[in-house]
Amino acid sequence: MDEEYDVVVLGTGLTECILSGLLSVDGQKVLHMDRNDYYGGASASLSLSQLYQKYRGSPAPESLNLGRDRDYAVDLIPKFILASGELTKILVHTEVTRYLDFKQIAGSYVYRDGKISKVPSNESEAIRSPLMGLFEKRRARNFFLYVQNWREDDPTTHQNFDVTTSSMRELYKKFGLEPGTQDFIGHAMALWQDDSYIDKPALPTIKRISLYAQSMARYGKSPYIYPLYGLGELPQAFARLSAIYGGTYMLDKKIESVNIDADGKFTGVTSDGETVKAKKVIGDPSYFGAGEEPTEGGKLRVIETGKVVRAICIMKHAIPGTDDADSCQIIIPQGQVGRKNDIYVSCVSAAHNVSGAGTWLAEVSTIVETSVPEREILPGLQLLGNVVDKFVSIEPLYEPTEDGTTSNIFISKSFDASSHFESVVDDVNDLWLRIKGEPLVLQKRETELESA
Ligand SMILES: *[C@@H]1O[C@H](CO)[C@@H](O)[C@H](O)[C@H]1NC(C)=O
Ligand SMILES: *[C@@H]1O[C@H](CO)[C@@H](O)[C@H](O)[C@H]1NC(C)=O
Repeated sequence: MDEEYDVVVLGTGLTECILSGLLSVDGQKVLHMDRNDYYGGASASLSLSQLYQKYRGSPAPESLNLGRDRDYAVDLIPKFILASGELTKILVHTEVTRYLDFKQIAGSYVYRDGKISKVPSNESEAIRSPLMGLFEKRRARNFFLYVQNWREDDPTTHQNFDVTTSSMRELYKKFGLEPGTQDFIGHAMALWQDDSYIDKPALPTIKRISLYAQSMARYGKSPYIYPLYGLGELPQAFARLSAIYGGTYMLDKKIESVNIDADGKFTGVTSDGETVKAKKVIGDPSYFGAGEEPTEGGKLRVIETGKVVRAICIMKHAIPGTDDADSCQIIIPQGQVGRKNDIYVSCVSAAHNVSGAGTWLAEVSTIVETSVPEREILPGLQLLGNVVDKFVSIEPLYEPTEDGTTSNIFISKSFDASSHFESVVDDVNDLWLRIKGEPLVLQKRETELESA
C-alpha cells in the first residue's frame, strides 16, 4: 500500500460513512476501514445469532420460537428519520435513496399523567387530543396557530413577541400553557432531551415544532420514516456512494496504530502490519483510545461525557395502547417521571423486515442519572407488557477533546440517547467544517422519498 490517500476513515458508523461518501463525491481519495466484518460499528444492525452472541455468548434458545435468524436486523442504537429533517436532505441530495426503501413509523406517542396518547401536530389535532382538558385545548390551539402562522419576515405574525430575545418560558406564559402541555410540546414535538431549552430564546423551539409538523404532514401517521431491513442499511448505502466515486472499503481490518509525527500531526495508519499514508484521518471514538488510560506523556483524544442505558426487548405483541401498531415511538418527558433526561421508547417489527413474523423489537433508552440505570428505564419497560427476552447495556458516550484542525485527526461523537438523527447530522456538519474549513452546502432537490 504505497499510495497516499487524502483521507483514511476508521469505523463504518453512519457519521463516518456519510463523510466518506460526501468526501468521495468531492473528489478526495478515501480509504475506509473497520475492525469488524460488518458495517455500522456501535450502531450496527445484528442478526438474531449475532445479537445473542454479543449479549449472551450463546445461540437464541429454540424454546422462544423466534423464527429464522436471517429475518432479523436488530438495531443496537435505534433512531428514526424525521421525514423533513436534515438526514432526509442528505439522503435525497446524494441520491443514496436509490439503494434504500423506507416505510413510515405508524405512530408518535407521548406519556402524560401515566398514560400514552398520540402527539397532536397542529391546532385541529390539538382540539381533539385527550392529552388536555377543555380550556387547555383552547390555549394550546392558540399556541399552535401562533407557531403555524409565524413567519420570520412578517412582523404582523409575531404578535409583539420577539422570539429571538424572549425565552420559551415567556412564550408558554403568553399562552398560559400548563407544565404538562409544555412537557409534550418541548419534548415530544420540539424533541429537546432536557429542559435547558426553556430559558433560551424561543426561536429554535418554534423551528423544531414546525419541523415536526412538516414531517408529520408529509406521510400522515407519524413524522418518522425508517429504512426496511434496519438502520445498518444507511451506512452501507453511503459506502456504495463512496465506492462509485473511487472510495476503497475494507472490513475486518485490525487497526494497530494511528501514527503521528514529532509535532503531533497525523501521518498514517498501520493495519495488519502495513502502513498507509494519508493527509487526514476521520474516525469514531473507539479508534482513538475511548475507555483507555492515557499513555505516559500522551493526552486523551476523547473524553466520556455521560452514559446511556438501553434495553432491547423482543416481544410477541405490539405495544399496548398503540392500536396494534407495527411500529411507533413513545417519548416520556423527564418532567413526567421526575428526571432530568427523557426516556425514549421505539418499536419496529416484521413489517420493516427487521424481525421474524409475529415479533416486535422494542427499545427503551435514556441518559444515566443514578447508580442503578436499569431502574431508570422502568417507566418505559412498564409500557411494553410481557417481553420474550431483554438485553440491557450501559454504554459510555464519548466526544473528542480537540477539533482536529492542528493534528488532522477528526473524531466523531458517540450516538446519543435521542430517538432521531438530527444530532448525528449536526456532528457531520461540524466535522465537515473542521475538515474542509467551509460549511457543508447541499443544493435543494425536489425528490420525494419512496414510502410504503
Ligand atoms: C393536521 O395534521 C394532520 C396530520 O398530519 C392532517 O391530516 C391535517 O390535515 C392537519 N390539519 C391542518 C389544519 O393542518
Ligand atoms: C419484507 O416484509 C414484507 C412485509 O412483512 C414481506 O411481505 C416480505 O416478504 C419481506 N421480504 C423479505 C425479503 O423477507
